[in-house]
Amino acid sequence: MRIALLGPPASGKGTNAEMLVKRYRLDYICMGALLRDVAKSNDKDSMRIKGYLDRGQLVPDRDVYRLVKSKLNDNFVLDGFPRTLEQAKMLNKDTKLDAVLYIEVSEETIIDRITGRRQCSRCSAIYHIRNNPPKKEGICNACNGSLYTRDDDRKDVLEKRLEAYRQQTEPLIYHYKKNGLLMFIDGEKSIDVVFNSICNLIDSKIKPNRRI
Ligand code: AP5
Repeated sequence: MRIALLGPPASGKGTNAEMLVKRYRLDYICMGALLRDVAKSNDKDSMRIKGYLDRGQLVPDRDVYRLVKSKLNDNFVLDGFPRTLEQAKMLNKDTKLDAVLYIEVSEETIIDRITGRRQCSRCSAIYHIRNNPPKKEGICNACNGSLYTRDDDRKDVLEKRLEAYRQQTEPLIYHYKKNGLLMFIDGEKSIDVVFNSICNLIDSKIKPNRRI
């Protein structure tokens, strides 16, 4: 099964991807995490990539596709890729998606989720101070790592991320609707309800392959 999660910042792509990976035994290709790893590394491109992340701008298509391409197989969930029409075209040359799950949320919800998000510095598990708090404040339930707030979750950077989403990523909704791959998810509901509706769509509409 080859699926991509599409949606604005903090719509719940990572939260659902983590659960989909476990439920359907998919490989997890998380574009944001791949780029944050490059930004932290000693790679020759690290400072350049970090600049885009810090400014809330999209990283150039050729850089992101270089990271994604080698990870494609027959069983994955893509979180945060594609984000431009050009990325969608590049992907389509190498693999065919079964579905694009579009998680829709309001701007008010985005702000609430961004400001409350905490992430594990060790295993990257995602929490929210009210909606999905850790058992022990500041500590990851899964690995005891310490939780942190992402640098790009600041309000001024969020505004840029939203602008990039509206201008460069939203056109993909129409693109995937036109070619019949788009599945709409109401992301305003609770974490459990959203995840169940995603699983219901997968179980009823996407033919599960043999690894499931
Ligand atoms: P990326 O890391 O992908 O950021 P994003 O798309 O802005 O998405 P987020 O990670 O912020 O949110 P999410 O949708 O995963 O929500 P989450 O599950 O965490 O990208 C970062 C940057 O990398 C970009 O700005 C860009 O620079 C670059 N980049 C990435 N991909 C690129 C690409 N393809 N091309 C070019 N550049 C690229 O949930 C958010 C919070 O809400 C959490 O606290 C969670 O607990 C909570 N929550 C989740 N679901 C619910 C729910 N149903 N109810 C209540 N709370 C919920």
